[in-house]
Amino acid sequence: MCGIVGYTGHRDAAGFVLPGLHRLEYRGYDSAGIATISGGILDVRKTIGKIVDLEALLAGDPPRGTLGIGHTRWATHGRPSDANAHPHVDCRSRLAVVHNGIIENYRELRKALAAEGHRFRSQTDSEVIAHLIERHEGEDLATAVGRAARELHGAYAIACIRHDAPDTLVVLRRGSSPLVIGLGHGEMFVASDIPALLGHTREILVLEDGELAMLTPGGVTVRTLDGTLVERRPTTVPWDGEAAERSGYPHFMLKEIFEQPETVQNTLRERVDAEGPEVRIPELGLKDRDLAGLNRLCFVACGTSWHAALVGKYLVETFARLPVEVDIASEFRYRRPVVDGRVLTVPISQSGETADTLAASREARDQGSRVVAICNVVGSSLARESDGVIYTRAGIEIGVASTKAFTAQIVAVTLLALKLGLARNFLDPALARQLIKGLLELPELLSVALRQSDAIRGIAERFADRRNFLYLGRGLHFPLALEGALKLKEISYIHAEGYAAGEMKHGPIALIDRHTPVVAIAPQGSMYEKMASNLEEVKARDGFVIALATDGDDEIRATADVVVPVPATMECLQPVLVAAPLQLLAYHLGVLRGCDVDQPRNLAKSVTVE
Ligand code: AGP
Repeated sequence: MCGIVGYTGHRDAAGFVLPGLHRLEYRGYDSAGIATISGGILDVRKTIGKIVDLEALLAGDPPRGTLGIGHTRWATHGRPSDANAHPHVDCRSRLAVVHNGIIENYRELRKALAAEGHRFRSQTDSEVIAHLIERHEGEDLATAVGRAARELHGAYAIACIRHDAPDTLVVLRRGSSPLVIGLGHGEMFVASDIPALLGHTREILVLEDGELAMLTPGGVTVRTLDGTLVERRPTTVPWDGEAAERSGYPHFMLKEIFEQPETVQNTLRERVDAEGPEVRIPELGLKDRDLAGLNRLCFVACGTSWHAALVGKYLVETFARLPVEVDIASEFRYRRPVVDGRVLTVPISQSGETADTLAASREARDQGSRVVAICNVVGSSLARESDGVIYTRAGIEIGVASTKAFTAQIVAVTLLALKLGLARNFLDPALARQLIKGLLELPELLSVALRQSDAIRGIAERFADRRNFLYLGRGLHFPLALEGALKLKEISYIHAEGYAAGEMKHGPIALIDRHTPVVAIAPQGSMYEKMASNLEEVKARDGFVIALATDGDDEIRATADVVVPVPATMECLQPVLVAAPLQLLAYHLGVLRGCDVDQPRNLAKSVTVE
């Protein structure tokens, strides 16, 4: 995730841009920049580091101008650097662009532009946007941006200013990268998220997918990309203070659940594109020949991250035919594990500071294993100590219960499985292309899955008094059953168990009665029939079944008492879409039971002690 802000009005733009970037720092902080226009001259200042580092760069010589844009970046591929920081400019530094999201076809665009003589200064996808807009410099800025956008594939939010349009700010949104316009008196604002606007205005216009807006101090015009005028009344933001930090959501957990389409998109960003089948993870720190020489992979993690590791086992063994072990980190570190130089150890950790996971990772390194971490926090202990890192890019996760970091971890282990499969020549490139296409569709499908929130709250209202839940899943969905049960336990304090559905008859079936709801993860796929017969066993004992099933599956209704539809996708990509309803069920039950869902009792966001 990255943060974008923009201003046009009667005051110095920097006076809005810099504080606005601070308000968006949760969206990223490894590099930052600002561009302003004054007297027809574009002035761009940017630096690696946090926004305070940008402010230090500007100290004594603040940028002038009543038109400006700003950006704060979250680590993507490669190292953060001054050159890769936004804003990016065209060849003659007469226009500047800031961007959040994915440009999937930037490689071919960059090649075509270079062939036309455009010179690039960075390794980012974002920079191609500036050069594409430059191609249409004879047009007014809004037309030029619209024309350029037609050549971009992917999902993105853009803000652009140009030297010859001294009070015009053009913004554009495609896909799930958010943009909100703030309406002032003689001034207009734009930001990736509402907190940056508060203190300046409460009148907002949320830009929808496929819309382009032209802002001047006197007002805003919104059109669709085909030029159709959009008439939309502004809405008034009712919150201030901490409610603003939650962007109006009642809890950070719910906000972070709903951020998942964007965070999944960012985990994929620049690592895969629609052309496929290449998977680019330059920060992996291992070459394909290193990957081909491995004879085992060990995942080590705790809690929710351990559940993501279990998903990873299924995927790596399926696509790369590489034996995989999955260990709870606190067990691994004390069991004298057998690892050597041909073993790849992959610690998974949102915080990168979990004591058990750090210790397990160090144990593996001491025994000669290569270590590649899957981690969400740039510069965390785990990231620094590993040979390579796959950053999940979920942005800061404030809710103690991990939600968006979990789905980002699942996407990361999926990318790792594909990368290993291709490097070891076990994964057919045609299948890899199909899988990548399915991955790129997940953000939109996740948005669809999240629309079930109200229906899931209705289900929760029926069971808020229950004392036990059972979660069942098979294959890839067994880890999801464990995760659903953990979410419920840690958020609502209801006891819940996750079980492999095939294990029912070996004991847990004794638990079934009409007081214990059974959440069954039963999307269509290779285990569907087996799952259906497990549900028959539950029903035969008066159990109440809440089934997560593929949207449009009517057959399951003969067995399940309640069905939560999950959008259809390839079986190996279903875990991301199943996670969302499980998170929402736990969230709504926790709220109904009056629990502190953002800071559940006895828990800490990062367990930095044994
Ligand atoms: C997740 O909801 C829990 N809060 C907890 O299990 C967490 O996943 C675990 O402590 C691991 O944390 P990490 O990912 O930061 O290492």
